[in-house]
Parts: sequence; structure tokens; C-alpha cells
Amino acid sequence: MKIALASDHAGFGLKEEMKLFLQEKNIETVDCGTASGELSVDYPDFGFKAAEMLSARKVDSAVICCGTGIGMSIAANKVKGVRAALCHDHFTAVMSRRHNNANALILGSRVTGSGLAKEILEAWLAEDFEGERHAGRLDKIAAYEEEHFTKLPWEEKKVSGRTIVLNHPLVCHKVGIMRNKNTSSKDFRDLVQEIAGLMTYEITRNLPLEEVEIETPLAKTKVLSLSGKKLAIVPILRAGLGMVDGILKVIPNAKVGHVGLYRDPKTLRPVEYYCKLPNDISERDIFVVDPMLATGGSSADAVSSIKQRGGKKISLVCLIGAPEGVKKFHEVHPDVDIYIAALDSHLNDHGYIVPGLGDAGDRLFGTK
Ligand code: RB5
Repeated sequence: MKIALASDHAGFGLKEEMKLFLQEKNIETVDCGTASGELSVDYPDFGFKAAEMLSARKVDSAVICCGTGIGMSIAANKVKGVRAALCHDHFTAVMSRRHNNANALILGSRVTGSGLAKEILEAWLAEDFEGERHAGRLDKIAAYEEEHFTKLPWEEKKVSGRTIVLNHPLVCHKVGIMRNKNTSSKDFRDLVQEIAGLMTYEITRNLPLEEVEIETPLAKTKVLSLSGKKLAIVPILRAGLGMVDGILKVIPNAKVGHVGLYRDPKTLRPVEYYCKLPNDISERDIFVVDPMLATGGSSADAVSSIKQRGGKKISLVCLIGAPEGVKKFHEVHPDVDIYIAALDSHLNDHGYIVPGLGDAGDRLFGTK
């Protein structure tokens, strides 16, 4: 985790204390200034620096101090994607994470003593976002920003995500068997696992390696080892569950998160009914898995949920995709690569992929 710190002259002392507190916890900090409490400066100059680092995802969160905390919260909340919360006590700190998914903590040095400020920071760091109805509210704020704010330079630089269709003969062969309507649930389940396992070679192709020295029974030598990579698999409930064990067989140390969403039939807005991710999700390479990429709606919503909780390096891994879903997903998440085992012809009027394989969830769990 990396945290940006900023203050004006009034908040300088408190910022320095918060910096020490974080460093003692081995949390990396980036100090955006100011560099002394002697010289009177303008709080927006420093508040914007930390808020922009947060907006550009160069840090995971920010801790910003001024005299009352008010000026800094006004300034930081002008920056797109920043949810800054001015907290005065344990309760506001906890609630700002649980309900508002605050990514910046604002403290007022003339209001809050350093002992209490440390307690607030401790509670703020430990708390998770609850999602569900609160996620829908934050979506509304994000939609407002999207509509009314001009794009920031780092948003313009987004690279277009790639679509990688795996055409390995083993994958093609197994996808063919899976499509057959006479394939049993048991065989279907096994095939989903096997294909997901085979796809893991491709989705992990760019993991960095480092040289480490070891001793064989004969001599010392240097071997290549994955360089402390942290991975997470996040199945979209429920069909995504079918792919998890296949991937875990190849990368057994990956952590597993879960996202469950449905679309409200009245508002057509995604409703998140479950989301539990590893705490350090912002540091992990994340593979979001779902066998079918049909309209692209639920995959795009799931990835938005993960990003809202700090996820940055994300790939989407599906078995069968429709061109409509690929297009829609890339429009919403141009920074995310899609890996699919087969790209089919089109969606039918009911939103099913053609030729496809039917409903992957039903076929996996034998519910139809
Ligand atoms: C500086 O005197 C003070 O106005 C500033 O630190 C902050 O309280 C602004 O809201």
C-alpha cells in the first residue's frame, strides 16, 4: 500500500506525525509537501498534489492535513475520483470507509490532537467498504463526475485493452466438447476447469521473473523465480466459480475474491449483493473470471466494483465471448485486457451467445 501525504503550514506537524506512524507500519508514503511549518502557504497547492496522485492511481489513498481540515477537504474533493472525508473521531473514520469508500482522510491539526489523529488513521486503514446499496450511491457520484468533469490528462492516456483469443489446439478441442448439448454436467464442469487451467499459461505470460541463487546436488547455480508476484482470482458469481480450481491448480498461491451482482429489472442498474476481495487488492494482478462474455454488462460492472475498491491491474478471463460483449467491455474499461478461449458469432434476441453453449451456470451446476 502507498499513501500520499500533504499539508499546509498549519497541518505540517500533524502530517509529519502521520508519516512516522505509517512508516512504522511499513506503509510506503509519498510526501507532497509542504516542507515546513514556518512558512505560510496556500493549502490548495498541496491538497491538489496529493489528490491528483490519488486520481491518477499513483497511490492507494491520501492523508491530508490543514488547520481545520475544511479547506483541504474542499480542495481534494474537487479532483475527479477523490472521495475525501474530514474525520474528527473514530466513528466518522469507520463510517467514511464503510459507507463512502473514502480514499482520502482529512485531518484538522487545530481540532484533533495527534493521539486521536493516530487512532482515527488506524481505524480508517483497517476498515473496508461495505458495498451493496452504498456502491450504487457512489456510482451516482462517479457518473456525475464522468458527465460534468473534463477529462484529466492521465485519463486521456489510457491504452486500449487487447482481446486475446486463445487458439491452442487443446483449448479448441475442449471448447468443442463443452458446446455439445449432450455433454453431461460432470464433464462440463471438468472441461471448464481444464480450459481455465490451460488459459492460465497465457494470462500469466508477462509475470516478471528474477534470478535467485540455489544449490543443486552438484553445484551452485542461478535459477529464475517469479519475483514476489501477488495474484488474485475473482470469479463473478455464480458461473465464474467453475473456473477457479482450474486456475488455482497452476497458481496455487493466488488469493480468491468474489463478486456477485444482479441487474435491477426496474432501474437496470447493477446491484452488488456480494463483494469480498483480498485486503491488498490494489497490489495484486487480478484475473476476473466468468465463462461467458455476452452483453459485457455484468463483467464491466464487476470490474468497476473491483476498481472502486482499489484494484488496478486487472484482466478479464472468459471462455466464450460475443463481439458485442467484447466491444461494450472495452468501451467501459479500455485499460483491461480480455482473454477468451473462443470468439463466437453474435448474441441472439435473448442475449445468449450464438452458437455458444447455453447458460454456463445452469450447465455447471445442473440447475436446468
Ligand atoms: C491556515 O491558517 C488555515 O486557514 C488552513 O490550514 C485551513 O484551516 C483551511 O481550511
